[in-house]
Amino acid sequence: MKIVVIGGTGLIGSRLVRKLRENGHEAVAASPNSGVNTLTGEGLAEALKGASVVVDVSNSPSWEDAAVMKFFETSTRNLLAYEAAAGVRHHVALSVVGTERLLESGYFRAKMAQENLIKGSSIPYSIIHATQFFEFVKGIADFSTVGNKVFLPPALIRPMAADDVASAVGRIAMGTPVNGTLEIGGPEQFRLDEFVRRGLAARKDPREVVTDPHARYYGVELSERTLVPGDGARLGETRFETWLSQPTGQVQSTNPQPARRAS
Ligand SMILES: NC(=O)c1ccc[n+]([C@@H]2O[C@H](COP(=O)([O-])OP(=O)(O)OC[C@H]3O[C@@H](n4cnc5c(N)ncnc54)[C@H](OP(=O)(O)O)[C@@H]3O)[C@@H](O)[C@H]2O)c1
Repeated sequence: MKIVVIGGTGLIGSRLVRKLRENGHEAVAASPNSGVNTLTGEGLAEALKGASVVVDVSNSPSWEDAAVMKFFETSTRNLLAYEAAAGVRHHVALSVVGTERLLESGYFRAKMAQENLIKGSSIPYSIIHATQFFEFVKGIADFSTVGNKVFLPPALIRPMAADDVASAVGRIAMGTPVNGTLEIGGPEQFRLDEFVRRGLAARKDPREVVTDPHARYYGVELSERTLVPGDGARLGETRFETWLSQPTGQVQSTNPQPARRAS
């Protein structure tokens, strides 16, 4: 089966492509680096020829409000139109648990726009809501830093390893489209401030994490359960301590993270 992974060079995409190939599938890693650009449409028709499934794990290079909205709206419209022309039978997209509760943030408004375009299209689909990746811990800290202190609320979080995200996305991509949203998360629940404190300590990052119930997360005031999935979420296996003790525990998400506190 031919599966095209849009964003196949990224944190999740590169792992997903490797896992699909290990399972005997023809997985194509599509991204600007390989001549496929969903913003312009360049290379899409050729890449999608003969594809049964398209998995979109791309991300916007800029998280500025207008830029990120333009990225997800334009690239999703292009992708869905080229998929319809190529006869693709399953569109899979990776989004974030609680997106609908985080709309104070321009990034999450753009993810919501992406999801709405998918729901309104004629292509059978599965939208996957994942919790925060372990690899994202430094990114969260950078965004919430003022001076040498990191201000974070004690909201609940159920983070997961990028490797477990890729495994779950691969399984869902190989299954029947759900025409709805599935949730995936990690095996353990933490408080956001505690999760980041442990992640920074393991990296010997000297910043102090300050617990502040009113500190914002990417511009959003969180309630206790904003970031956690519901009871039916499929849970990954890798525990945070195990991941921190592995060499991959030092790998970061490449997401751009302005070093300033969200407010
Ligand atoms: N970070 C989290 O904790 C989290 C949690 C849940 C869900 N998610 C979602 O997971 C998804 C993947 O995140 P990630 O961290 O794996 O992303 P990433 O490492 O930043 O990778 C982004 C990918 O998008 C590609 N890309 C950028 N512009 C493109 C374009 N115009 N056309 C085609 N491809 C393009 C990049 O290609 P090049 O390498 O060629 O530039 C790269 O392969 C995102 O949609 C995000 O919303 C993230």
